[in-house]
Amino acid sequence: MTFPVAVLASGRGSNLAALIDARDAGRLPIKLTLVASDKADAPALRNAEAHGIPTLALDPKTFASRREFDEALFANVAASGAQLVVLAGYMRILDAAVTAQWVGKMINIHPSLLPKYRGLHTHRRALKAGDTEHGASVHFVSAELDGGPVIAQARIAMHLGDTGDALAARLLPQEHRLLVACVGAIARGEVHEREGKVLFRGHTIPAPLRLDTAGHLTAA
Ligand code: GRF
Repeated sequence: MTFPVAVLASGRGSNLAALIDARDAGRLPIKLTLVASDKADAPALRNAEAHGIPTLALDPKTFASRREFDEALFANVAASGAQLVVLAGYMRILDAAVTAQWVGKMINIHPSLLPKYRGLHTHRRALKAGDTEHGASVHFVSAELDGGPVIAQARIAMHLGDTGDALAARLLPQEHRLLVACVGAIARGEVHEREGKVLFRGHTIPAPLRLDTAGHLTAA
């Protein structure tokens, strides 16, 4: 039984690549129904094509409003049969009507320990704040930017002399493990969203889940 997943990506697509690799290795019981982008030249689209995954690029400039763009995009997502949408480096803010329709069925990966550092430049902001720890979060998407309930987080220690780029590079492999684990848990029916809370194996979680060394989610 494979779970149908659509991915939205605006750029490089390393998180998409991690999902494809895990699927191909038999570690992720998903079918990728669509990879869609707001950027026709996104490397993520080329990678999807190379793997025989249906792709779609829509140009926001050809739509009268954000709502019309999102309606067209998500009509395609729905038509692909996806039951889960993964925002993997998707850099456009979503219309609230769309997020309302996909509550509990759309997740985002964000490179910070939410609720810290919503939005951009998370690595630099964590450094500037003098944090001793940094990380990534996967959360259910709500109308609020980077604001929905957090499913799980991966943490890394800060090192002396760290730069934003060094942090980003060190965090990225952890992001990949985290996203694969979260998509897998949703595909297997272990993680749900209910009334703005995350349920793990039927119980509300008091804090974001963590990753164990084998890449499985565990209660914090
Ligand atoms: C990742 O750092 C992700 O957390 C953020 O955007 C970046 C996308 O990277 N939302 P990639 O396109 O998946 O390589």
